[in-house]
Amino acid sequence: MLEITNLSSGYGDVQVLSGISLTVGEGEVVSLVGANGAGKSTLVRTIMGTLPPREGSIRLDGQDITDLPAHRIARLGIAQVMEGRRLFNHMTVEDNLLIGGDILRDKQRSRENLEWIFYLFPKLEARRRQLARSFSGGEQQMLAIGRALMTSPKLLLLDEPSIGLAPIMVETVFEKLPEINARGITIFLVEQDVHRALNIASRGYVLEHGQIVMSGSGADLLEDDGLRKAYLGI
Ligand SMILES: Nc1ncnc2c1ncn2[C@@H]1O[C@H](COP(=O)(O)OP(=O)(O)OP(=O)(O)O)[C@@H](O)[C@H]1O
Ligand SMILES: [Mg+2]
Repeated sequence: MLEITNLSSGYGDVQVLSGISLTVGEGEVVSLVGANGAGKSTLVRTIMGTLPPREGSIRLDGQDITDLPAHRIARLGIAQVMEGRRLFNHMTVEDNLLIGGDILRDKQRSRENLEWIFYLFPKLEARRRQLARSFSGGEQQMLAIGRALMTSPKLLLLDEPSIGLAPIMVETVFEKLPEINARGITIFLVEQDVHRALNIASRGYVLEHGQIVMSGSGADLLEDDGLRKAYLGI
C-alpha cells in the first residue's frame, strides 16, 4: 500500500533522512522505532507532504504521491495523528470529531464512524459535549486518533502516540490499535517506545540517525541482542 524508495529529506542545510526504503502492505501493522532525534517525525512530515523530499519516491497503492500537497494526500486516504496531538481546544469532543469527518462529505458514513469511535473509546462518548482542552493527555490522544479515524482512512499514520502519557494510558491507547486494524485500516506507527511498538507490529524497522539499520518481524526484532541492548537495556 505504502512504498517508500530511497527517500532523503531535511531542513535547510541539514539532511535528516537518507536513503530510506520501506513498505507497508495492505492490512499490516508496521512500526518504525527510533530514539529522540532519529528522524521519525521528519519521515511522517515527508510522507504527509508537509516537508518536500530531496530525493526518492513515495507511492500509495501504486500512485506516485511524492510531490502532492498535504490536502491531496489526506484525500487519497492517509490520516495522521500528529505528535503533540493538535486538537481544537476551544471546541467540544463531538465537534472535533465531526470536523475530522468533513473531508468525507458523506453524512451517513460520518455518523457510522462517530458511532464506532464512541464504541472504541467510551470515554469520548461520555464527554462528547466537553471542551477538548479540559481533557487529560490520554483522553486527548484518544480524541486525536478518533478524529483521524473519522476520515475513513485506508492508512493510519501515528507519530508517537505514547508521548507524554502515563503508562496506563499508553496501554489503553495501544490496545486499541489491533482493533482499529481489524476493521481493515492499515497502520504505520512511528514510536520511541520500542517494546510496545514492536509487540503489536507484524513488521518493524529501526531508524538511527536518519537511516534504516534493521528490519524484520516484530517478534524477531524484539529478540535481537543488539536491539535489546540499545533500546531495551536488557
Ligand atoms: N523544523 C526543523 N528545522 C530544523 N531541524 C529540525 C526541524 N525539525 C526537526 N529537526 C531536526 O531533525 C532531526 C530529526 O528530528 P525529528 O523530529 O524528525 O526526530 P524524532 O525521531 O521525531 O524525535 P522525537 O522522538 O524527539 O520526536 C533532529 O536533529 C532535529 O533537531
Ligand atoms: Mg518526533
